This record gives sequence, C-alpha cells and structure tokens, in this order.
Amino acid sequence: MRYITIALAKGRLAEISIELFEKIGLDIAEMKTKTRKLIFVDETYKLKFVMVKASDVPTYVEYGAADIGIVGKDTLIEECRNLYEMINLKFGACKMVVAGPESMREKLKVMNDFRVATKYVRVAKDYFYHQKNKTIEIIKLNGSVELAPLVGLSEVIVDIVESGKTLKENGLVVLEEICDLSARFVVNRVSMKMEKERIMDIVTKLRDLQEQEGNA
Ligand code: PRP
Repeated sequence: MRYITIALAKGRLAEISIELFEKIGLDIAEMKTKTRKLIFVDETYKLKFVMVKASDVPTYVEYGAADIGIVGKDTLIEECRNLYEMINLKFGACKMVVAGPESMREKLKVMNDFRVATKYVRVAKDYFYHQKNKTIEIIKLNGSVELAPLVGLSEVIVDIVESGKTLKENGLVVLEEICDLSARFVVNRVSMKMEKERIMDIVTKLRDLQEQEGNA
C-alpha cells in the first residue's frame, strides 16, 4: 500500500492539526516532540506527515507531492492553486482586514493615493482594485507587517487578525473587514480519484469528530 502524504502548515495550525489526528486515532506522538525532522510516518495507516511553510502547503498539494494539506483559507486565497477544498475545519478562525491608525478611517474612503503593506498581495489587489476601484500602491512584506504604518512605509496594512493583540500593542485598529478565515482540509485532484477510499475515510472521521464536538 502506498503512503498518503499530508502536508501541515508549520506553527499554530500544525499543532491543532496534530491534536485532531490524534483524536481520530492516529499515532503521531513523535510529532509532538521538539524535533527538527520534517517527515513523520504512521506505519499503521501508511500515512506520511510533512511539515512545510504555510504558504507552500497549496504548492505541495497541487503538484501531488502531498495528497492532502491542512492550511489557512488566507493562504489558499493568496496562492490560488488548483485543488479541492474538502472541509472547513473551523479552527484557526481569524479575519482578513485592512488596519491602520484610527486617523486613516475616513481618509481610506476618499483617498486614492496611499500605500498598503501586506503579505497578501493578491488579496489586497483584489480588494482595493476590484472591489473598491482604487489605484493604490501595494508593498509586499514577509512579516511584522504592523510595523509598516508606524515607520511611514505605508498608510495601512492588509493582514490577518486573530486576537487583535498585535494591532492593539502597536496602536493600530481594524478599519475594514475583508473576509472570515479558518483552517481548511484540501486534497490533490488526482489523489482524490486514485485514493478516494482512503482519503474519504479520513474526511469522514474528521467530519464525525466535528459533529461530536458541535463544530460542524
Ligand atoms: C500574524 C499576523 C499578525 C498576527 C495577528 O502574524 O500577520 O501579525 O499574527 O495575531 P493577533 O491578532 O492574535 O495578534 P504571525 O504570527 O504569523 O507572524 P508574522 O509577523 O511573521 O507574519
């Protein structure tokens, strides 16, 4: 039997994903140890787990290097890859927002020449160019995006907000909400045909768990 490979987004989502797989009966205790290994194997069910950077999960799954991925909707929208989104796992809930200093709230509605810093260039372009018809400049950053308005790199940011702590501690506020986000279970299109039975078995177990926990 071939291994089914599951790509997990390193960090917060991977931790919750591991708990989820334990609850449906997989033995992945090794993944909870502090290790720098990138591949973990469950010999009973012939599963392989690979730990990758969140933004790379859709790439692994689209190319079939992983059959399944667990990743945030934010990454899925931004990466725009060709894959099946099978389950909204509901955890990792947060929002994609436009944030900045309170003084930008009114200006944002009328100004057309401001800069937006973000890790999510596609999301920001779609929002400002297509939904708001603005011709603003978008600056790609790779992290600590909240810093940009504080040092004059941009007027506002497009980023995810979970607890709101990072914005608050940096004197920024949510100015506009773009969309709700959460973790998703995604599947490679060919794997879905070739390994339908085994993949649907995992999907069913996860859906049953969601119902049991009142999270469906
Ligand atoms: C994310 C996001 C915000 C923060 C929001 O950053 O980009 O900075 O979390 O969370 P909060 O509302 O609970 O404060 P991440 O931790 O991924 O780090 P990054 O700055 O490297 O993107």
